[in-house]
Amino acid sequence: MNNLYTSLGKRTLFSIDAEMAHGLSITALRLGLHPRVAADVDPRLAVSIAGLEFPNPLGMAAGYDKNGEVPDALLKMGFGHAEIGTVTPLPQPGNAKPRIFRLQSDQGVINRLGFNSKGHNQTRANLQSRTGRSGIVGINLGANKTSTDFAADYVSGIHKFADLATYFTVNISSPNTPGLRALQKADQLSDLLQRVGEARREQVAKHGRSIPLFLKIAPDLEDPELDDIAATLTKSDADALIVSNTTLARDGLTSKYRDQVGGLSGKPLFERSTIILAKMRLRLPTDFPLIGVGGIHSAETAFAKIEAGANLVQLYSGMVYQGPGLPGAILNGLRQQCDEENLTNISQAVGRSAKDWANIKLG
Ligand SMILES: Cc1cc2nc3c(=O)[nH]c(=O)nc-3n(C[C@H](O)[C@H](O)[C@H](O)COP(=O)(O)O)c2cc1C
Repeated sequence: MNNLYTSLGKRTLFSIDAEMAHGLSITALRLGLHPRVAADVDPRLAVSIAGLEFPNPLGMAAGYDKNGEVPDALLKMGFGHAEIGTVTPLPQPGNAKPRIFRLQSDQGVINRLGFNSKGHNQTRANLQSRTGRSGIVGINLGANKTSTDFAADYVSGIHKFADLATYFTVNISSPNTPGLRALQKADQLSDLLQRVGEARREQVAKHGRSIPLFLKIAPDLEDPELDDIAATLTKSDADALIVSNTTLARDGLTSKYRDQVGGLSGKPLFERSTIILAKMRLRLPTDFPLIGVGGIHSAETAFAKIEAGANLVQLYSGMVYQGPGLPGAILNGLRQQCDEENLTNISQAVGRSAKDWANIKLG
């Protein structure tokens, strides 16, 4: 299937508009046209964090399945978890098209989708069809562009999906919703986490189950901001931190699309997001779980994220360039790494290169 992708499918998908190609890939997954890889292929890859048992450390990042249409297909491709969303309370169209650009010579993507979402109700209806199925499906929550109280939008997401989400992600790091990233500032973040925390406690009382909460940050933060986020997080009841969303930086790109407005992901994001991940690893208690995202396109880059401090990793743009065989290839590579180093569990490598990564100067 992967060879087919690299020879035929990839050429076809790259010959059409990026957003149309994305839609076609969702349709293919809905039809079951994808490789099948057991997610629990090796017990050495199993990761336990935030009270959840992940069959392996690799997840599908938010933004691919925004409306919760194909989480089970993603899990069947080998991903140990699928994060759906970002979902906003009300449906909203997002920004004008074109709004996704493939930077082929850089193996990157720039998007300025602006939280195009079918909204809570439709996403809930989509997810309800998988009620009773196993597999870790996280729900990434966002705010409507026209909302006058962003925090209230996250709170309403907690109430709406408490019976369906394996975990929640509070996404305050999209660069495409004006004002959203300001929620990363200490005061606003503390207020947001408090209000979301109250909603979670209400839901525990109703459902008898506490749903883990992850926070997702940008890679465009200075050291004092990272200090503040770490201090706020340790005082909150958040369970994990996802590092990172897309970047506004534009270093060393060659593609004709390099000056498009939006967030950059893929290979050109790898170094920056891994440095920020390592900086947060050093700022947070060693048992505070981190999820590393940004530029993973191989087993080597997935393992490097783990060594820099990630308990779990996620990817999106790598699938655009490597195709649907990528999760299986990464899991194979991680198993080989366990063989070579005699690791009894992949977690033994977490953070061992954090200091080296954190010392690299951002360009
Ligand atoms: C087209 C596109 C849409 C995205 N939409 C979202 C989103 O809705 N919510 C979110 O938290 N991240 C979103 N992301 C960011 C990814 O989840 C991820 O953090 C980022 O792309 C870095 O990973 P990558 O280099 O593997 O793509 C999006 C990324 C892309 C490329």
